[in-house]
Amino acid sequence: MLIDSHCHLDPTVFGGDAGVDEAIARARAAGVDRMITIGSGYGFESAGRALAVARRHPDVLRATVGLHPHDAKLATDDTLAELYAMADAPEVVALGEMGLDFHYDSSPRDEQRRVFRAQLAAARERQLPVIIHDRDSAGETLAVLDDEGAWEGGVLYHCYTGDVAAMEAIVSRGGYISIPGIVTFKNGDVMREVAARVPADRLLLETDSPFLTPIPFRGRRNEPAYVAYVAQKVAEVRGADVAELSEQAAANTRRFFRWE
Ligand code: NI
Repeated sequence: MLIDSHCHLDPTVFGGDAGVDEAIARARAAGVDRMITIGSGYGFESAGRALAVARRHPDVLRATVGLHPHDAKLATDDTLAELYAMADAPEVVALGEMGLDFHYDSSPRDEQRRVFRAQLAAARERQLPVIIHDRDSAGETLAVLDDEGAWEGGVLYHCYTGDVAAMEAIVSRGGYISIPGIVTFKNGDVMREVAARVPADRLLLETDSPFLTPIPFRGRRNEPAYVAYVAQKVAEVRGADVAELSEQAAANTRRFFRWE
């Protein structure tokens, strides 16, 4: 079994509903059995679109809803209430991606902090796991997760780009790590080192499509079918069999999202 634990199958970037359905069909043909589409990162409305896509493909898709740190400035009491109402849908398996991004600073940092904490509280109330986006927060994301007591509910660092020491800090708290196609890049040495050392029971695989297209498809739009290339490279750096590695990562994904 092979799962793409993080893709953005947003109709606005995949050429409408038909384009999304074609990408899902290509993924299935490539041996990808399940996908998690992320309803966060393309404005507040991406949550509703992800939920709609998951509802159209209940056999292979689940959704998350959340407000990305880039979009924290869009948060109002109304948008957050609407988001949390969507989180109660049976197709929704997590809140996120959420977190802190001090690299792009697309939203003011205080807004990012406020919206991150609000979503962690909402996840705690609903006993939903969370997907974390952390970019250049200098340890603050981890400190907020500690402060909010978030680990018990399930924490997944997606598109993990930190070093081995930071990975170990996450894993020691019970967190999970998801490896994207950067692991195939020429300049991906740190990520390959991390991918080699994540404990086998905490490792997930993702495309983060439509971005971060793995080698050999650089320059094309990324899509869930290409998670096979991520699996191949991660297996290679771990000296593991690719089928076994894919199976282990899929089992971790099912456990994390409680999607058995
Ligand atoms: Ni993402």
